Amino acid sequence: MTQDELKELVGKEAVKFIDDGMVVGLGTGSTVKFMVDALGERVKNEGIKITGVPTSDRTAKQARSLGITVKGVDEVDHIDLTIDGADEISSDFQGIKGGGAAHLFEKIVAINSSKVMWIVDESKMVDSLGKFPLPLEVIPYGSGQLFKKLEAKGLHPEFRMTKDGNNVLTDSKNYVIDLHTGKIDNPHELADYLIQQVGVVEQGLFLDMVNTVIVGRSNGPEVLQA
Ligand code: A5P
Repeated sequence: MTQDELKELVGKEAVKFIDDGMVVGLGTGSTVKFMVDALGERVKNEGIKITGVPTSDRTAKQARSLGITVKGVDEVDHIDLTIDGADEISSDFQGIKGGGAAHLFEKIVAINSSKVMWIVDESKMVDSLGKFPLPLEVIPYGSGQLFKKLEAKGLHPEFRMTKDGNNVLTDSKNYVIDLHTGKIDNPHELADYLIQQVGVVEQGLFLDMVNTVIVGRSNGPEVLQA
């Protein structure tokens, strides 16, 4: 199976966990796109009523186009379940997210959810985190100084740029710095250091946050409880 087929597989599997009337956090990325498509199908075919809380403008637009009711995170009183993709998941269920520059909103929605589910193709499952560059969302003002600090700390930062040579902007109009850390031995220690740096809005380590992971494998989806 191709990577896209595995993503579609887990997207379709994930929506089986959604019941009529639920408030569902909708993540961001290519895997989530398949999940939102599958949810749109259920809404259309089964007439179930779902409120989606999207984590990006992209996901909001897609959900609306499929007839899914969309509300902002501050317009709902609870979120039953958030379904999102991930860039890396370690064997102890810690994750890196933000490859799509949406990790700030993704984390806000996740921490306000009763349950969090990640859906990934099998290539995202790793022994330890750090091969995938760790994204930081940073305030543009002073980001050059912050960059130098991260460099001096040996974190190998790189501003994320568009093809046209401009800084990638998040939905909050912030910049993204990717850290080429290599193997992360102590994710909690690194997360604490990063979030204490002035100008860092959010970092992409999602620690102790997920309840269920669905892994797309060629012989079918594997559901893991964290
Ligand atoms: C968005 O910022 C990310 O956290 C995505 O959830 C993550 O990058 C997974 O994306 P794909 O499903 O496109 O691999």
